[in-house]
Amino acid sequence: MNLRTAPASRFTDQDCAPYAEALLAHAERSWLRLNVPGHAAADRSLTAAFGPRISALDFPPLLEGIDLGAHAPLQESLDLAAGAWGARRTWFLTNGASQGNQIAAMITPALGRTLVVQRSVHSSVVDGLVLSGMDAAFVQPSVDVAQGIAHGVTASDVADALGRVPDAAAVYIVSPSYFGAVADVRAIADVAHAAGVPLIVDEAWGAHFGFHPALPEGALALGADLVTSSTHKLAGSLTQSAMLHLADGPFAERLEPLVDRAFRLVQSTSASALLTASLDLARQTLVHGGDRIGASIQAADKIRGVLRALGRYRIVSDTFPRFADITATDPLRIAIDTRHGGISGHEARRLLYRDHQIMVEVATDAAIVAVVGAGFAPDVDRFIEGLHCLPAPLDGQQRFTDDRLYLPEPGAARMTAREAFLSPAHLVPAEEAVGRVSADTLAAYPPGIPNVLPGEVITAETVAFLQRTAAAPNGHVRGAVDPTVSQLRVVAH
Ligand SMILES: Cc1ncc(COP(=O)(O)O)c(C=O)c1O
Repeated sequence: MNLRTAPASRFTDQDCAPYAEALLAHAERSWLRLNVPGHAAADRSLTAAFGPRISALDFPPLLEGIDLGAHAPLQESLDLAAGAWGARRTWFLTNGASQGNQIAAMITPALGRTLVVQRSVHSSVVDGLVLSGMDAAFVQPSVDVAQGIAHGVTASDVADALGRVPDAAAVYIVSPSYFGAVADVRAIADVAHAAGVPLIVDEAWGAHFGFHPALPEGALALGADLVTSSTHKLAGSLTQSAMLHLADGPFAERLEPLVDRAFRLVQSTSASALLTASLDLARQTLVHGGDRIGASIQAADKIRGVLRALGRYRIVSDTFPRFADITATDPLRIAIDTRHGGISGHEARRLLYRDHQIMVEVATDAAIVAVVGAGFAPDVDRFIEGLHCLPAPLDGQQRFTDDRLYLPEPGAARMTAREAFLSPAHLVPAEEAVGRVSADTLAAYPPGIPNVLPGEVITAETVAFLQRTAAAPNGHVRGAVDPTVSQLRVVAH
């Protein structure tokens, strides 16, 4: 477990959820509410939909006795979260890990001119590049061409990039990946620190790491300096709530005021009490959730074990040992090569949803990824049965050689993301966009890894890939101006 040795009493009592408890107690009192949110006074439809508690607990921020003051329950909850994740300081975010990535990228111009950044980061990091105007030196991830998925980067890839960049500000990587591949964060942190720069890790998918011996260690414990964490994904808080953690490392003094001020730039002045309370409760549950997390891991292991034994499908993470950048796997991610079982990932996801009321997290042409929340024990048999009821429309040839899996190489970068985003631009038909510089970020979603960045040349392969993604069931391209990607926004000549 991450729990850091308590330097002061404020980090010790992980049994409490001070903010959530204070909020509940506050709601028990008989208030005449003449403040926002206005729905507190006239909430019939909200109550009918969600029950009376939703409005009763929906208080504005800056409440005396809850939010304000050095020892207020909000501050205690933040301190407890920092203690639980092993951080020097934690910020609660109410606009997801996206907000954390925007903050982290926004402060980097204070540290140097160029951000050394994994090319397969989430699009919110690229949004941060647009906000910050940073130059980026991209580090290409390893790619599993058989699956059409990007993994992570190695320490030596990062060291090479740092060697080419004289004025690096920081290193920015993502770990774990959407498919659960964990990078060697310790080695990458060492390389970054040797070059005199901090390591920022987008650990959106690893908020639960370190809370059970069978889970990988969290990035903070491995030397990362600033860590974005999507607590809502697998660690139990409400959707859109997340955390940003600052390590007690060599860059703490420099980063803390920068992060705090950037946080204020992008945090709503009406941060949701419900989301905040859910972060407090998720932390309390995770810290004491060892047995339940163990049961979740067992359930996920069982699914993988039965699928291997039945033989129709393959488990994508079984190939991870072949990739030098992957040092561990998140056991709560179950990535299944459905194409091996005769059905594309997109079709498998569509039929599981339509015919079996089973929702999985993501589909690609080749695979689906199911995720198990830390502490949640899913119905293993139902999932296995659903998978084995699926038809197998792909013939033998299509099962093993499918050129749709091709993941397009990014085009050359001609200007920074911010320059391209702010340049005069116009819409052109997709075929005319080939060879032009993109003004937008375009990302097949999920996983939301940008296939085109603002400032990059648009290639024919990328256009074909994005149009195919958009045409797939549940296909969505984040940043596209129309749902079929028939037009693209390019920088004017
Ligand atoms: C790697 C990664 N980082 C960041 C995010 C953004 O997280 P959020 O949805 O909490 O804003 C995602 C979302 O899927 C992601 O996959």
